[in-house]
Amino acid sequence: MTTLKPVLCVGCTVIDFVTISASYPQEDTDRRCLDGFWARGGNASNVSTVLRLLDTRVEFFGMLSSSPAFRVLLEDLTQRQIATQHCPTTSKDPPFSSVIIAQDKATRTIIHCNKNYPYVSALDFSKIDLSRYGWVHFEARQAAETVKMMRMVQAYNETCDPQARLIVSLDFESTFEQNLPLCGLCNYLVFSKELATQRGWSTARDACQQLLFLITQSSRTSPSIICPWGSAGAVCLDSSGNFAEIRAHEPPQVVDTLGAGDSFLAGFIHATYGLQQELQVAVDFANRVAGHKISKFGYDHIA
Ligand code: FRU
Repeated sequence: MTTLKPVLCVGCTVIDFVTISASYPQEDTDRRCLDGFWARGGNASNVSTVLRLLDTRVEFFGMLSSSPAFRVLLEDLTQRQIATQHCPTTSKDPPFSSVIIAQDKATRTIIHCNKNYPYVSALDFSKIDLSRYGWVHFEARQAAETVKMMRMVQAYNETCDPQARLIVSLDFESTFEQNLPLCGLCNYLVFSKELATQRGWSTARDACQQLLFLITQSSRTSPSIICPWGSAGAVCLDSSGNFAEIRAHEPPQVVDTLGAGDSFLAGFIHATYGLQQELQVAVDFANRVAGHKISKFGYDHIA
């Protein structure tokens, strides 16, 4: 069997300060939590973690920091064999998220603090030899730079035989208008329930339909669109316009939903790329990975 080329994950790595509380705290009260920890987080960073746990080779490409607070994150990346050799470094303090996991309702509330931390640029990305990878995963973020990076992948693919082309996935969960132009540049678009709900799209199917309409207004090609919808499962719409609803795999007890979406994405990439599964089977696998992830804290039990 030939070894697959690594997946390149482009995006953020941040510090997650996680507090586990019996219930969500009332404002302006002083109370004790049940437990807490801090860990490496961030969307592309978590996708990298779960891909490694699923035994897929992966490289993370995002802005690293030389600040002492970041050292633990670097050690964790190294220990998990997530390559970082193309990442630029800044001396700025890393972004962080304050996360409250409320046990009674199994919610996770994230407040993110970015302080204008720099993002990787298209110039940084242009130094990477794309022939070393088989799949590139992008966070939909900093659209002006990301669009250039995605166009570089597109230009590279035009020089390749079809079987050597890089597959591109996009994780879309914020700043809708700015990031919409990125959707025509990927093979797989994973769109978040939270953003869909903010736009007034009340079901995953509705979200897929609306997105398809908007994407085809400005792009000749449309990606397969996948919309995970929590306990309702996920809907996917392939590039020929076929819908499928794939049920969720909820564990008996939901413990920690932080990073469930990132785990879904890693499961999807692993199933599509590593296991060569077709869209619906890959989405089912992704649902299983996400369902398993939320049964315990953290990610390590996914392995
Ligand atoms: C979870 C997560 C956290 C991080 C936040 C960034 O999906 O990646 O690890 O703090 O989202 O938005």
